[in-house]
Amino acid sequence: MQDIIRRLEEMREQARMGGGERRIETQHEKGKLTARERIAALLDEDSFEEYDMFVEHDCNEFGMAEQKIPGDGVVTGHGTIEGRQVFVFSQDFTVFGGSLSAAHARKIVKIMEQAMKVGAPVIGINDSGGARIQEGVASLAGYADVFQLNVLASGVVPQISLIMGPCAGGAVYSPAMTDFIFMVKDTSYMFVTGPDVVKTVTHEEVTHEELGGAVTHTTKSSVADEAFENDVEALLQVRRFMSFLPASNREKPPVSPTEDPVDRAEPSLDTLVPTDPVKPYDIKELIEKVVDEGDFFELQPDFARNIVTGFGRMDAKTVGIVANQPMVLAGCLDIDSSRKAARFVRFCDCFNIPIVTFVDVPGFLPGTDQEYGGIIKQGSKLLYAFAEATVPKVTVITRKAYGGAYDVMSSKHLRGDVNYAWPSAEIAVMGPKGAVEIIFRQDLGDEKKIEERAEEYRERFANPFVAGSLGFIDDVIMPHNTRLRVCRALKMLENKKLENPWKKHGNIPL
Ligand code: HXC
Repeated sequence: MQDIIRRLEEMREQARMGGGERRIETQHEKGKLTARERIAALLDEDSFEEYDMFVEHDCNEFGMAEQKIPGDGVVTGHGTIEGRQVFVFSQDFTVFGGSLSAAHARKIVKIMEQAMKVGAPVIGINDSGGARIQEGVASLAGYADVFQLNVLASGVVPQISLIMGPCAGGAVYSPAMTDFIFMVKDTSYMFVTGPDVVKTVTHEEVTHEELGGAVTHTTKSSVADEAFENDVEALLQVRRFMSFLPASNREKPPVSPTEDPVDRAEPSLDTLVPTDPVKPYDIKELIEKVVDEGDFFELQPDFARNIVTGFGRMDAKTVGIVANQPMVLAGCLDIDSSRKAARFVRFCDCFNIPIVTFVDVPGFLPGTDQEYGGIIKQGSKLLYAFAEATVPKVTVITRKAYGGAYDVMSSKHLRGDVNYAWPSAEIAVMGPKGAVEIIFRQDLGDEKKIEERAEEYRERFANPFVAGSLGFIDDVIMPHNTRLRVCRALKMLENKKLENPWKKHGNIPL
């Protein structure tokens, strides 16, 4: 017995050393933590239960029979974050470059299946040279098994990817199918083909960082949701992020008790919207002033900044917030902002997270770029997402709600449950100037007359009362009371039940 215990300890020690001291040092020299250090930083102390520590690959090609390292390049298991269950896999770059063998894939699949059974999120830490080259198609099969599980788990449990090293080739498609991707600046990259292949095929010269680094994916491609400075920051932020998410589609969002009073008035909001209708203001100020303790986790903050998306809490419970940002492109909807917000709305709807929408939208961005890029279909993604969502939907129009964009932004007509407007709201087919230039074309050239007509139009439509008289707005609320009114609406909606007609699945315009 003693011998077996000693042997067990030795085997555990060997597994913990991964690819050995030299490779661990190299990992540290690159500014990266090891797979196990990452898990330790991510999970609550001593909560990690490791699985499959003794799994080895079964490849005999290219001398691999003599090279076996227990664990085979990925550490898997479950643990807790702030006491809540999560499953985790962390690829170990010190073992065969974290490359994915059939055995490595089986370990990932095992925890994903268990996470789905018990209803707990999966966090994947990616740091890998891709397919285990010595294994050939067996490795590709392993990837496909993981891809299949990603799809089956989608909408069942939250899936979060941390990219903390290389992630290239077909390997990128597993994180791509997860709900959120977080990257680390300078040490992580994702691309389908690397700089060398790019040079051969397109003659472009580009660095790893430019092609697929964290900044590229959070500003240009929108593949990633946020970029962090280093491993520790990324892991701590993911801990914070997880506190907003329910564990599965069977659960309601978690409750985080707060001292912040529901009826906290914010007098400064009464002057947030400038009197000049074309002057911008920062919608994030409104968000931070209404959520509990100003705690807002923004997603994709550096992409499509004309729309703001992220999680906050109201009266201790998570809400998803979608808000037009008048500071960028006047807050209009375009291809990027529609796609960004649509995906966010669909995540909230999958996981029972109520959606609070703040509207100040002058319409869709015009132009050939937008039309050729398919704004018709891309814009309809957001419309579709809001329309199919059955979670509680509370909307506040702060200023402009013009044209089709008014309909899109969680309007009453798309089953908005509670729709409020501030006194500064302007709900109309378009802005006064544009409207007058069309309906009073005969007066064009006569500046005075046009101005008078515009004033007349503004008086009639640039207010919340026409929509209010039709019941499209439930009430006109004082800006300083926004937190109270939204919290009350959410409380009233807590047990909302609404189902869409049975179907296999809808066909969102992809
Ligand atoms: C087996 C691998 C490996 C791989 C790296 N290693 N990638 N072993 N299969 N795919 C091993 C190396 O042999 C080395 O072993 C150790 O990992 C560290 O690698 P280095 O090259 O020394 O590290 P570094 O200089 O940091 O470069 C990292 C790297 C590079 C950029 C990831 O290793 C690389 O280019 N690897 C190959 C990437 C690749 O082409 N993968 C297949 C892509 S196709 P030792 O023993 O020396 O420490 C793919 C298809 C997926 O992934 C399809 C899914 C559908």
